[in-house]
Amino acid sequence: MRIDILTVLPEMVGQALGHSIIKRAIEAGRIEINVVNIRDFATGRHHMTDDTPCGGGGGMIMMIDPIAAALVSLPRLAAAPRVLLTDPQGELFTQAKARKWAQEEHIVLLCGHYEGVDERVREHLVTESVSIGDYVLTGGELPALVIADALTRLQPGALGDEYAPENDSFAGELLEFPHYTRPRIFRGWEAPQILFSGHHALITRWRRWHQLQRTRAWRPDIWARFSPSVEDLKLLDETEPAITDPNR
Ligand code: ADE
Repeated sequence: MRIDILTVLPEMVGQALGHSIIKRAIEAGRIEINVVNIRDFATGRHHMTDDTPCGGGGGMIMMIDPIAAALVSLPRLAAAPRVLLTDPQGELFTQAKARKWAQEEHIVLLCGHYEGVDERVREHLVTESVSIGDYVLTGGELPALVIADALTRLQPGALGDEYAPENDSFAGELLEFPHYTRPRIFRGWEAPQILFSGHHALITRWRRWHQLQRTRAWRPDIWARFSPSVEDLKLLDETEPAITDPNR
């Protein structure tokens, strides 16, 4: 897949893409991420990308013409089914959207900035606006990076063979179960004995019990949409599955 990110802060975006899993996915050709500097398409002596609002008032508004020119410069733009504006007023980005968009050949992310973007951009140049949460950031670069990250890790092979994104929280309707690694005891805080038992059926039950309990307790909104099976309901009535005999 290819993602074009249009921004007035290309260094900020480019920097963040040069690490860890995203860096490796780009190097392996699993994803192509192209950062476009909107300022390169600004005309006029000062290469302005923003201007004062019509009708007065404070703040600066991103101008439509450099954005339109930057979009037109993109190869295969006509084939990109989604041109997304990052905007706190947009539809909420979710894992379901990430799964859907990760299948696309090409998406374009336009980073909003300043007090806002000329409304004609939303009306004529983008297919939808997207928000990463109900809070307001200084710009759309971090949201664009959040979206690019979520889509990159879903590209086949991006996480390595041993990790399956199907196991993520939200992918399987419930939050994830707790994870532990060595040391087994740290400052007297012990990792659950059951995880060292080698008893796979018991470990699976323990993990399911935790998924159910923590989703119900921590995310009542997700719990309300979840339909527990008869076994799930029975498991929820039990106390935490445990190994009492350490030699088992
Ligand atoms: N720009 C500023 N805040 C944002 C948010 N929460 N989501 C998307 N774009 C934004």
